[in-house]
Amino acid sequence: MLRFVTAGESHGQALVAWLSGLPAGLPVDFGFVNRELHRRQLGYGRGGRQKIEKDKITALAGVRHGQTIGAPIALQIENRDWANWQNALPVEDTEGAEDTQRKLTAPRPGHADLAAALKFNWHDARYALERASARETAARVAAGAFAKLLLREFGAEVLSHVVAVGKVKLERAAVWDEIVAICGNLDSPLRCVDAATEAKMKREVDAVLRAGDSAGGIFEVVAHHVLPGLGSHAQWDEKLDGRLAQAVMSIQAVKAVEIGGGVASATSYGAEVQDEIRYDAAKKRYVHATNRAGGLEGGITNGEDVIVRGYLKPISTLRRPLQTADLVSKEAVKAAYERSDVCVVPAAGVVGEAMVALSLAAAFLEKFGGDSLAETRRNFESYQQQLDEF
Ligand SMILES: Cc1cc2nc3c(=O)[nH]c(=O)nc-3n(C[C@H](O)[C@H](O)[C@H](O)COP(=O)(O)O)c2cc1C
Repeated sequence: MLRFVTAGESHGQALVAWLSGLPAGLPVDFGFVNRELHRRQLGYGRGGRQKIEKDKITALAGVRHGQTIGAPIALQIENRDWANWQNALPVEDTEGAEDTQRKLTAPRPGHADLAAALKFNWHDARYALERASARETAARVAAGAFAKLLLREFGAEVLSHVVAVGKVKLERAAVWDEIVAICGNLDSPLRCVDAATEAKMKREVDAVLRAGDSAGGIFEVVAHHVLPGLGSHAQWDEKLDGRLAQAVMSIQAVKAVEIGGGVASATSYGAEVQDEIRYDAAKKRYVHATNRAGGLEGGITNGEDVIVRGYLKPISTLRRPLQTADLVSKEAVKAAYERSDVCVVPAAGVVGEAMVALSLAAAFLEKFGGDSLAETRRNFESYQQQLDEF
């Protein structure tokens, strides 16, 4: 069973990801893992933090001679900003530490500040925001890169592009080759496949920046060359559409998840929505004329691209802050402001890729198992033969 968890706070010493269940013998391309971490740091509208951090992975366990060994994998990403925070947030209760504390008592509407302060009984939202912060997603991307490496061994790729920033939306579908190209262009400011739309998106970010406001948006994750049969209709918690929705919804600031054309399909008629099926004799596979289902029917992959969209609310830290109530005095005050992103849609898309890759890799290993990559491959090839002969 593929499992992963993360630990680490925004301004702690490091972030850690623990990943268990990958077969032994998977080659680990550290250049690829670090490139994924770099991609998460990009995007027009990010705050100053990205200039401080240069995320890089250290594998503490589970990898030897450049390959997985079937043991749990522990990954670490150093927080360079720790140097600026270790007096304010020391691990041990050092003398005089309270003098340098950076308390946050004016909870930001939309952030975890108030809810977590109430839950953990703190009159300071600092610890709450330290863990709620999306700095944590660096650890997810590191774990997700390992899931991508596994999927790649079997021909599947997971990428993403930006469909909307604020009120500016890409008004057409993107094809796979365009998504590959835009993901390969690390200079693209917002990873939108259409240059004219991207220029408008950039202006949207400039406008919210000038206004002291923030913008949300939509990213689309596409998993290409995923074979049919992952996930199951048999139990509610085995349905892969549900598992993907939970995985992507868990990303900070994602407030809705869509599979394929899910939202529009609710207000369309059946013949406009369902994807007709035919048999492709050359490929020896059943194919769909369209892919409005986003590659999933009955909670099972159907052989088409898996398409998952994440809808992000705007960032809650505002340079022109909203009204809030102080956690100590209870008085009406302006919400706290500290260095913040104003738009994170491309970065969230990279996190979305990681979460989709981890969900698909988990479903893949449930179907094919294998303690070594060679065993997984044998099982995979036998299923391919079954599909050929079907
Ligand atoms: C990549 C990424 C970067 C983020 N950066 C910030 C940020 O700089 N400032 C901020 O207030 N929120 C940021 N967020 C969103 C918050 O982490 C999120 O709104 C908060 O944890 C509350 O969780 P919720 O919005 O899911 O309810 C970011 C989210 C993502 C995905």
